[in-house]
Amino acid sequence: MKLVQTIKELQTELDALRSKGKTIGLVPTMGALHAGHASLVKRAVSENDVVVVSDFVNPTQFNDKNDLAKYPRTLEADCELLRKEGAAFVFAPSVEEIYPEPDTRQFSYAPLDTVMEGKFRPGHFNGVCQIVSKLFMIVQPHRAYFGEKDFQQLAIIREMVRQMDFGGLKIVGCPIVREADGLALSSRNARLSAAEREHALNISKTLFASRIFASSHSVAETQRMVEAEIEQAEGLRLEYFEIVDGTTLQKIANWEDTDYAVGCITVFCGDVRLIDNIKYKEKL
Ligand code: PAF
Repeated sequence: MKLVQTIKELQTELDALRSKGKTIGLVPTMGALHAGHASLVKRAVSENDVVVVSDFVNPTQFNDKNDLAKYPRTLEADCELLRKEGAAFVFAPSVEEIYPEPDTRQFSYAPLDTVMEGKFRPGHFNGVCQIVSKLFMIVQPHRAYFGEKDFQQLAIIREMVRQMDFGGLKIVGCPIVREADGLALSSRNARLSAAEREHALNISKTLFASRIFASSHSVAETQRMVEAEIEQAEGLRLEYFEIVDGTTLQKIANWEDTDYAVGCITVFCGDVRLIDNIKYKEKL
């Protein structure tokens, strides 16, 4: 495995491999890797000849500078995990390498990016699209892998690829990876104290319970059940919970409105912002 820090070096390496007919898989990350990322890399390794993992904390997607400053940075440990998983390249550029000048491009995929995270984190998805589109142009992968924990991000990236056409690039969504007790894996979990981690467990517990509840209750009742559970749980502050169509990300009123219903939640646990989601009806 090779650690590469410049675009030029990465492109030289990848051009040589591409000319030999090798397929390239890309796993974009912001580092602080955990088993959730490992599952993306495993999948990418099984489906491509060469896997590139980008490890870059992208400043343009943070609307809260404090959040950016506190984001964990663990390149050495990341490289160890990626070597074990069989990645060929870790691309860990500097901010100046990626943004030699401010990126003034504007991406707008309304209404996908105006709801939920888009409402609470203005500019976030614009920053995500800036970095992800740059990575697609630099790496020119055949496939790119993203976790379903960031459900809205995945929908927006799919739409960006549909509209911009990155040469047949396939976007692969991979299931959420959870701890044995249900907590969705996230780089932010590292910032939870032991007590906060206990509190955070109520997020997935409530979502799982809501799936059973939903089978005999309406969308509105399920919505109220989740809100009430989180609001009365110790140490949690609900930012939003929405039950949406998994493709359009618009709220549904009745279960019959869609064949793909997903509940998306964001909760503060202390000052750590956690997101999670659950599928009530799955798209086949
Ligand atoms: O999901 C993430 O970790 C980031 O948003 C991504 C896709 C790597 C872009 O910085």
